[in-house]
Amino acid sequence: MFTPNKTTLEELWDQIEYINPVQVAAKSNLTNSTEFVLPSDPTHDMPTHPYEETKYLKFPKDFKYGVSSSAPQSEGAVKEDGRGPTIWDYIPHLFPPSVEPTIDIVADFYHRYKNDISRVKAMGINSYSLTIAWSRIYPLGTGQANEVGLEFYDRVIDELLRNNIEPMVSLLHFDTPFALLAQYGDFMSPKIVADFNNYAETVFRRYGDRVKRWITINEPRTYCKAATYFPYDRAYPTGINAQNAEWHCIHNILVAHGTAVQTYRRLIKEKVIVSGQIGVKNEFAKPAPYTDSKEDKEAADRVADFLLGIVAKPIFVDGDYPILCKETLGDFLPPMTTEEQKLLKGSADFYIQNLYDVPRAKAAPNGIEACVSNRSDPLWPVCRDERIQYVSTVPDGWSNGQPSAPITPTFSNTWFAIRDQLKYLAKTYPSTGGIYIGEFGWPELLERKRDELYQIVSDYDREAYYLDYLHAFLLSVNEDDVNLKGVFAWAAFDDYEWIIGTEIKLGLQYVNFTDPALPRSYKRSFYSYSNFMRQHLRHGDFNSS
Ligand code: NOJ
Repeated sequence: MFTPNKTTLEELWDQIEYINPVQVAAKSNLTNSTEFVLPSDPTHDMPTHPYEETKYLKFPKDFKYGVSSSAPQSEGAVKEDGRGPTIWDYIPHLFPPSVEPTIDIVADFYHRYKNDISRVKAMGINSYSLTIAWSRIYPLGTGQANEVGLEFYDRVIDELLRNNIEPMVSLLHFDTPFALLAQYGDFMSPKIVADFNNYAETVFRRYGDRVKRWITINEPRTYCKAATYFPYDRAYPTGINAQNAEWHCIHNILVAHGTAVQTYRRLIKEKVIVSGQIGVKNEFAKPAPYTDSKEDKEAADRVADFLLGIVAKPIFVDGDYPILCKETLGDFLPPMTTEEQKLLKGSADFYIQNLYDVPRAKAAPNGIEACVSNRSDPLWPVCRDERIQYVSTVPDGWSNGQPSAPITPTFSNTWFAIRDQLKYLAKTYPSTGGIYIGEFGWPELLERKRDELYQIVSDYDREAYYLDYLHAFLLSVNEDDVNLKGVFAWAAFDDYEWIIGTEIKLGLQYVNFTDPALPRSYKRSFYSYSNFMRQHLRHGDFNSS
């Protein structure tokens, strides 16, 4: 069981491996070969549905057309070349997903990055969103940097550039070094700000000549929602408890983001880095109110502030938290000092958001006022009725958009709400650097239960999802004047979907995790995304080099 204060590399791995030892990927002839076979395009004999309305519309010049993945969900090789453990090595060892793969191996991107890059290059992408694993660079989160870890990302970044693919690099994707949880309680402690900044400066200096777009943190809000649970709750620093942990985490994560951005800008000023942009990857759409009632509208506003505004407003508006959050949370939320407000305001060069769907919001059944004034109400502090997020306003309980896999009710194809959402984001959190969709994607229904390869790769619903969303993105740019600068599909290939493993899959490519060679196969959606972009990008933006 997790013991705080055990912080040497050995002690940390021991806590993980006492349950089961770390597994290592088998070597195979697929490993890192740039040779692969591109099967014929399945959409030729069964064309994807055309959209007359957008047939001749284009995305703007230099539009970033990309795919994404993250280190903990794809790399594997968790104990190799000096990498230290992260919280996401510990959790899956303790609660192994009921289905393969183990986080130890996953898609083995660590050994197959060349193969994977050449496979996505085949779809013409010009950008790839990836993450650096903090624990490869600083196995203990801080201290001595690990040169072998740094060299790995040199190779990955160079390989992308050789293929004419621009890397967009995130510094943290939930995978904080385990040592920092054991030492002081992770993002629940302000001590993390200096360690994150030190790590950020190391990678900015190392790759700043080649990486021109950075993300400090992926989904800070989701990160901190987990902060009240195991194993974070075993290492709360003094003064932190299950009630205030989430809000201290938000505060520290924002300050860590702002401090890293300040460092990045200083390095540009000092001419250590020539140029580049930096942002933070938000999540959670503003929901549509379930009905026109005042209460449901208020619920939608509350969700927007508590799940999105609490991170976005300080950065894009005025350095401070939304009033609703301050009023409701009271002393649970550390106040922003004047200095912190200055640090945060304007601390992003562009706006980037993961946008899978747009849910609904209905007021708490006992009314918002009663819920807000009762800290022990289970729906406090947001006070939305959590059962009604994916139900439409149409009577009789129809769903809000096409539902996906039942295990993940939080994904729906809500293409009809995407344009309004983008308008809302652009207006509420304006950025001169424009908007990016950091992730969008679809867990195909029952994909996991399909046995035959032809069934697995025939992901017609995912294909429809992509085409619907791309269609909406085109209209946003051309009809609504939204300054959309790029979109990244999640995910380049099947990976590890956190606690549920591969129970659901979102990849544009299938990875056969039961075969030690981990062969990849293109899915139909891979071709449709690519064909759509070939048709709608400006000359030169489709990467056919
Ligand atoms: C967003 C997260 O950043 C990513 O890690 C996750 O796999 C996708 N959502 C899908 O759930």
